[in-house]
Amino acid sequence: MTRRPIIAGNWKMNMTPAESVILSQGISNRYARGWDKVDVVVCPPAIDLRSVFTVLDFDKSNIDVGAQNVHWEPSGAFTGEISIPMLKDVGCSWCIVGHSERREMFGETDGDVNRKVRALVDAKMCAIVCVGESLSMRDGGDAVQFVCDQVRAALAGLDAQEVAFVTVAYEPIWAIGTGRTATPEQAQEMAAAIRATVAELVGQEAADAMRVLYGGSMKPENADGFLACPDVDGGLIGGAALKAEDFAALVEAA
Ligand code: G3P
Repeated sequence: MTRRPIIAGNWKMNMTPAESVILSQGISNRYARGWDKVDVVVCPPAIDLRSVFTVLDFDKSNIDVGAQNVHWEPSGAFTGEISIPMLKDVGCSWCIVGHSERREMFGETDGDVNRKVRALVDAKMCAIVCVGESLSMRDGGDAVQFVCDQVRAALAGLDAQEVAFVTVAYEPIWAIGTGRTATPEQAQEMAAAIRATVAELVGQEAADAMRVLYGGSMKPENADGFLACPDVDGGLIGGAALKAEDFAALVEAA
């Protein structure tokens, strides 16, 4: 089955609004005709969302703007949090949820991830759900079971139509920011297991249509191996997304 590729850039906490505008302009300047065959998403820090959307929308590109996190409540006494109405107000149509850095450093649970996915799907926004194992799990042979359990928890309660708003990003924790990637074979094995798990949950048709991304030190020089995997539909990019030329090269490779 052919699925539309996604290249999403997670800028993490690495860009001031002024730097985000410069990076956005650099990406826009490299926008090429073939980019309309790929879902291109940039996920700046929350403070930069409006400035990035303005630059990208101004250039009439098909680049979408996404958030790196969201709260599941529409409003309330949640100091420091961002709501879906706020994201929609600045033009966001995507949101990363469950990134391992949020799970590890901010105590985000599988239940939190599921509540965020539910809220995003109800708002007709696209959720990029991050899953991935630690090195000890990988070395102990527990990676596939652990990751598929994360997928089950994240998608609990969703039906086949709702899963259409979900993309799963497999990001082995030991490959994030380390320069060490999974092998394409490991990425393919996990992407296929994720897709099989989704098929158990909501049926093969919805599972076949859902995109699965790889993330974890994906760069222009190693992207082809991952993009050639039949069950890998693109990448969730960290470091390489901070350089317009590298991000553009990844879009063109997809
Ligand atoms: O969310 C994507 C990120 O975790 C991957 O980071 O720097 O390994 O590409 P990086």
